[in-house]
Amino acid sequence: MCGIVGYCGPKAAAPVLLEGLKRLEYRGYDSAGLSVCVDSKVEIFKRAGKIHDLREVVPEDLPGTHGVGHTRWATHGEVTDKNAHPHVSADRNIAVVHNGIIENFSSLRSRLTEEGYVFESDTDSEVIAHLIQKFYQGDLERAVKQALGLLKGTYGVVCMHAGEPGVLVGARHGSPLLLGVGDNEMFLASDVTAVLAHTKQVIHLEDGEVVRVTAADYTATDLRDRKIEKEVETIGWELEEIEKNGYEHYMEKEIFEQPDSIFRAMQGRIDQENATGHLGGLNMSRGELLDVQRVRIIAAGTSYYAGMVGAYVLENMARVPAQAELASEIRYRNPIVERNTVYFAVSQSGETADTLSALRELQRKGARVLGICNVVGSSIPRESDGGVYIHSGPEIAVASTKAFTSQLTAFYLFTLLIARMRDMSLEAGVSFTKELARVPDTVREVLSRADEVRRVAERYYQARNFLFLGRGINYPVALEGALKLKEISYVHAEGYSAAEIKHGPIALINEETPSLFIVPDDGLRDKVISNMKEVKARRGPVIALGVDGDNELADIADDVLFVPKTDELLYPYLMVVPLQLFAYYAALKLGRNVDQPRNLAKSVTVE
Ligand code: AGP
Ligand code: GLU
Repeated sequence: MCGIVGYCGPKAAAPVLLEGLKRLEYRGYDSAGLSVCVDSKVEIFKRAGKIHDLREVVPEDLPGTHGVGHTRWATHGEVTDKNAHPHVSADRNIAVVHNGIIENFSSLRSRLTEEGYVFESDTDSEVIAHLIQKFYQGDLERAVKQALGLLKGTYGVVCMHAGEPGVLVGARHGSPLLLGVGDNEMFLASDVTAVLAHTKQVIHLEDGEVVRVTAADYTATDLRDRKIEKEVETIGWELEEIEKNGYEHYMEKEIFEQPDSIFRAMQGRIDQENATGHLGGLNMSRGELLDVQRVRIIAAGTSYYAGMVGAYVLENMARVPAQAELASEIRYRNPIVERNTVYFAVSQSGETADTLSALRELQRKGARVLGICNVVGSSIPRESDGGVYIHSGPEIAVASTKAFTSQLTAFYLFTLLIARMRDMSLEAGVSFTKELARVPDTVREVLSRADEVRRVAERYYQARNFLFLGRGINYPVALEGALKLKEISYVHAEGYSAAEIKHGPIALINEETPSLFIVPDDGLRDKVISNMKEVKARRGPVIALGVDGDNELADIADDVLFVPKTDELLYPYLMVVPLQLFAYYAALKLGRNVDQPRNLAKSVTVE
């Protein structure tokens, strides 16, 4: 689930691996380790804890120019030194790092134990090292393939053998792995950020592929030894994009980047003259677009909330029935796939296991699934039937912010495109596209008011429970605001439809439970104000997030934050930004690790 980096080349491997692991830190992890081949011996260093704990035990002048490193996000076995990766074979010649879950590890482990192999850890991963030893007859690649043939579950793995200096063997099945091609040096990594400082030339491995790598060369084959021609891709990201550039945290940087990231998501995609969206990657003809009778959106977490906004906009503007659903749920409920339905799989990382598996299940049933993703070349866009890249640039903070607003942009553009093919007039289209094109500037205006959000967050950060309340298109925004707060501040927060509180959550209201109401100037404003009054009547502290000029709010709420006026359907952009800031400032005040909150991983590649 977390991080893999492997190196072979002319440099000392340990510093390269440590630096690569540092770059992968953002993904969330609980232990780290590395292994380097020195004098035909596999040296292993590993620690529960952070990269700097590992750094302390790795000798600074460690020779050896090929090795593997790992950050672990424990699934099987506690977070301890011995369970950290790499894992070694009983003869101590083979080192293995693994991301994913080996589902049949327990039967393999019993069998290997009967055969005399002694296990040192409680992980599922260790079986891989012993299996490779069992099959090893002088050819690591061969032995790895035989071992992989017995595994059930998911893996990204990289292995090395003391007797084959300068050789790494990597493979993937359900957990990402890529090859970084340098100048007489090669990298294997689970994520492009680990290699970006060295090379922009990468090869993405597909499930079922195995790659044998030396400093100068690589060969890709499948488990049956059939050779696979791979294409080298050039990564569009710059190294500075994965650095903090003067900000204290990645999350802060990514929140403040949104005027630019939203602009990038819409750049070249708004046809002002014809008032429509232009999305080149959908791979759908005009006729097919016209035939769309239903849209279904699958995603997890923040991407799911973006999907809920998307569904609302699609129904409202394009009058096409649309629904967002949790990917983790759809995949197990034998979904009905109908003709003329378009599915969207929304995922920042493009690697979320729940979303990827749902996509595959839907495709098996004959569905057309389009991706809305950020990471170019990741699994979901590669496996989908077309889609939209959101071009947010790397999102490093675990809490997703800029991806959300760019995912919204993809939905607005798609909606515009099919709405204009249906009922939407040129006139209505022109006025909407104008307002949409202004979003980067209005978001910039919202960000210029960040200090007001900070002031309010610093007033309420000690509350142990929070309600986030919104309605209509801003209901998912309330859910997203609550998710942001709980993720990074560990404060319990519930997102609800403001109308629903009287059906239960209002019982939670007291002087210590603040409610944050989203109050745009839309048709539901007065209803939301009534809900605010209900909370006030029960002595609940109220923060209102309203629109410039709505003076009535100050009479009811204890604190008011304002955003500029915009089209009713575009408020999610403006309302979510103060909520992201609110969570950020509250978490800062609470002294939390904002970028790497506890227990969370950036990309959830296990079920
Ligand atoms: C967002 O802040 C979360 N960390 C999480 O909910 C995330 O949105 C979810 O895991 C989906 O990730 P994806 O967009 O990469 O698929
Ligand atoms: N399942 C393995 C373990 O618990 C690998 C976890 C990971 O992907 O980091 O050690």
